[in-house]
Amino acid sequence: MYNAKSVVSELLALHIPELEPQQIIEMLEIPPNPEMGDLALPCFKLSKVLRKSPVKIAEELSQLIPPNENIDRIENLSGYLNIFLNQSNYIQQILSHILEAGKEYGSSNIGQGRNIVIDYSSPNVAKPFHVGHLRSTSIGNSLYRIFEFMGYNSVGVNHIGDWGTQFGKLITAYKHWGNEEAVNEGLIKELVALYVKFHEEAEKDSALDDEARQWFLRLEQKDEEAHKLWKWFVDISLEEYQKVYDLLDVSFDSYAGEAFYIDKMEPVIKELDDKGLLTESKGAKIVDLEEYDMPPCLILKTDGSTIYATRDITAAIYRKDTYNFEKCIYVTGVSQSLHFKQWFKVIEKMGYDWYKDLHHVPFGTVSIGGEKLATRTGNVVLLEDILSKAIEKTLETIDSKNPNMENKHKIAQQMGVGAVIFSDLSSNRIKDVSFSWDEILNFDGETGPYVQYTHARACSVLRKANNAGNIEESELDSKNLLSKEEYQLTKTLADFPDKVKQAQKDLEPSILTRYLVDVAQDFNRFYHEHSILVSDIGVRSSRLALVKATKLTLANGLYLIGLHAPEQV
Ligand code: ARG
Repeated sequence: MYNAKSVVSELLALHIPELEPQQIIEMLEIPPNPEMGDLALPCFKLSKVLRKSPVKIAEELSQLIPPNENIDRIENLSGYLNIFLNQSNYIQQILSHILEAGKEYGSSNIGQGRNIVIDYSSPNVAKPFHVGHLRSTSIGNSLYRIFEFMGYNSVGVNHIGDWGTQFGKLITAYKHWGNEEAVNEGLIKELVALYVKFHEEAEKDSALDDEARQWFLRLEQKDEEAHKLWKWFVDISLEEYQKVYDLLDVSFDSYAGEAFYIDKMEPVIKELDDKGLLTESKGAKIVDLEEYDMPPCLILKTDGSTIYATRDITAAIYRKDTYNFEKCIYVTGVSQSLHFKQWFKVIEKMGYDWYKDLHHVPFGTVSIGGEKLATRTGNVVLLEDILSKAIEKTLETIDSKNPNMENKHKIAQQMGVGAVIFSDLSSNRIKDVSFSWDEILNFDGETGPYVQYTHARACSVLRKANNAGNIEESELDSKNLLSKEEYQLTKTLADFPDKVKQAQKDLEPSILTRYLVDVAQDFNRFYHEHSILVSDIGVRSSRLALVKATKLTLANGLYLIGLHAPEQV
């Protein structure tokens, strides 16, 4: 694809033999204001190499380089070389490329089919699937799609929390206060209620904690009753999660959760021991990490039971053997950062050089109305309830705008769910997010519905043109697209491949979320300033080509953040 920076840097390199084009690319900047050009070279960066003042360099270069088919003019301004592209040539190249690439626009082959394991969502059975897990699910799903788009083979793993001491607590609670009927009826809600009750009661009576430990130990020792209850709780939870995944349109290649590693931990514990890494501490087995200023990584508790970290170490080795990944990415809340640092170190100490390929991708907390969510205190808002409410509210908006719309339920679902995902991906993932209904569902704000609505608006223009029998993309003549809105929109569209790369490199879907808002805003400015379906066929076809390129870019981008792009809203 035509790339303005490379075109310009190649030209400049002819006149600056001291530098390679790649070095010049890295120096080029986008001026804060289009009146200062499309690209600028800050010449102070060259002073040292050329042993001249920036002002002198800018002056000389601006005179040396004549305009050509790519460059309209070059101006020098206080030590900066301001480069103005040949607008019409630029627009022609960019739009033709986007229209030709279509669904592939922005994609690449960089990954060459190499495997990237992404561990995301991973809710804990018997605890609710709440908005914190939604963040993991939406970030992970977006990274999954971005890596695939870059030519990698993504492997999505849902490392379900289906093992651990919480089962001891849950079984204890069930034994004391639960019954079969209530569980079959209330499903996850009932399991959560039992879990919360356990914590309330255990505050008053610490014997319950011992009982819970006993039950978990029985479970680890394959006790029949414990196992049966465990399996029942897991099945109920998985079935409920599936409903949420269907709504979110998220899927996984593997559901190998914590329990999958039960029989795989023993050889790993032995390996740790053989490598001299295990030490005993107050009856427990740990890997000492003092030299790295970290608390020890606990491997076996005093009662011989395994923990979260034991399973993570085992799972990483299993995944390396199974998928030979280039990277294995873990998407969880920032509160788990130390956990990952510790056991990544254990993998390193075991002598596995691929410890470098393990990445923790942390994110900030989610609050609703300013309150943090915690399972133990029962302050949880179930994701399923949030999604249903978002869908319901979107349906109300649709009903007030366009009550006779076809498929309105399906579209309300795509937009309601989209609004929730989009808001989750809007800010840098490490930031805490606070959830507000009014903000996320606003069709005019920087929201999912706004971007989806803009996409549908572009589709509607194309539909009208099509019905009138006049889509003539081949007639694209960029000389008809010289207004500042058209130029700005094209420039923004041209950024898409770089944004995808950046999002992949930083493991940061919010780069795309924010980018899509820019595209939508630039498109709407163009749409309000210019009529598209005008009688001049040259102008009409060229504008339609721009609309179509926008629609393609929005659709590709929405897909990468996990949203649908309805054609009509
Ligand atoms: N189940 C954990 C939680 O909800 C997240 C698991 C993340 N993945 C992992 N391999 N540790 O906090």
